[in-house]
Amino acid sequence: MKQIAWEDFEKLKGSEKKAYFLKDGNIFHVIMSQQFDRKFLDEMCELATKTRGIAKGHRGMRFLQSLLDNKRAMLYFVQPSTRTFLSFMSACQILGIKCSEVRDPSTSSEMKGESPEDSIRTFSSYVDLIIMRHPQERFVEKVALMLNYTGRPVSVINAGSGKDQHPTQALLDIYTLHRSFENYGGIEGKSVAFVGDLLRGRTVRSLSYLLKNYEGVKIYYVAPKALQMADDLKDYLKENNIYFEEHENMEEVIPLVDAIYMTRIQDEYDESNESSQIDYSKYHLTKEHLKILKPNAIIMHPLPRRAEISPEVDNDRRAMYWRQVRNGMWIRVALMAKIFKKDVDIMNY
Ligand code: NCD
Repeated sequence: MKQIAWEDFEKLKGSEKKAYFLKDGNIFHVIMSQQFDRKFLDEMCELATKTRGIAKGHRGMRFLQSLLDNKRAMLYFVQPSTRTFLSFMSACQILGIKCSEVRDPSTSSEMKGESPEDSIRTFSSYVDLIIMRHPQERFVEKVALMLNYTGRPVSVINAGSGKDQHPTQALLDIYTLHRSFENYGGIEGKSVAFVGDLLRGRTVRSLSYLLKNYEGVKIYYVAPKALQMADDLKDYLKENNIYFEEHENMEEVIPLVDAIYMTRIQDEYDESNESSQIDYSKYHLTKEHLKILKPNAIIMHPLPRRAEISPEVDNDRRAMYWRQVRNGMWIRVALMAKIFKKDVDIMNY
């Protein structure tokens, strides 16, 4: 595994960090969206679709469950999660991977003064893969690099790192866009609106990075001024010539887009209850809005939702958020199969 001091690593651009997440040319750690290229995204979509087809039959399911039945994973989730946690756990079960979990560091030796790095290094001895959700932005990168130095490196998957990234959510979002637009010219040239708390929502950041891989995509960031997208990500879009606009008014954007991605306010990151000062109701999608949305547009949400999408919208055929959940499980199956080099076995089944 490639090694580097943390101070030097921190200075690298996202795309330059990719080399430290590979082993023998194959993906080993999944840390940030900038590490994926178009070829990889296409491969993941194809692999996920192939896998879910295989899983329909009893024999196929038994085949999948035998693929990685010699592997163990640890779900280290020290920030609230049920859907991503269960999605990964189900994906592990489909591939025969056995899971253990840490959800509350207060029950571990961290309470005895052990550093989180030491805890994870200890746990890594028991497993082949660590799937990690953590409130601190760069912690997952630190862990991956630390494990690169050990005699027995294990893979790390970022399942949500603070306000920064959620790369597997972005993969499932791409898979959902890919499936939705398969017969409508693909993701190329589509317009995507992101609505809500763009400043602190990691799913929007991770998906924005991935849209770079699709020619002619237009991004519309719709948010109250205080929650607009952060400058670092806008700089990235400018450097890569990706078209984006910023808006405060959701109604003026709805008719323009092919996908509208709603998000909740991320008030768990409030420093002094500042979210309560914001009128978020202007960023709620209701049945009325459906009239001005294009007939083939899709509505997305990473979930959990609050009032951003009225339940009346759920049965509209453009509502894609429940399908996103299911796509998430299959793309995670594909990703783990790829990490452990079982993609060829699946494609040849
Ligand atoms: C998201 C997250 O955790 O960032 N949830 C998820 O993983 N699907 C979105 C959110 O919590 O708002």
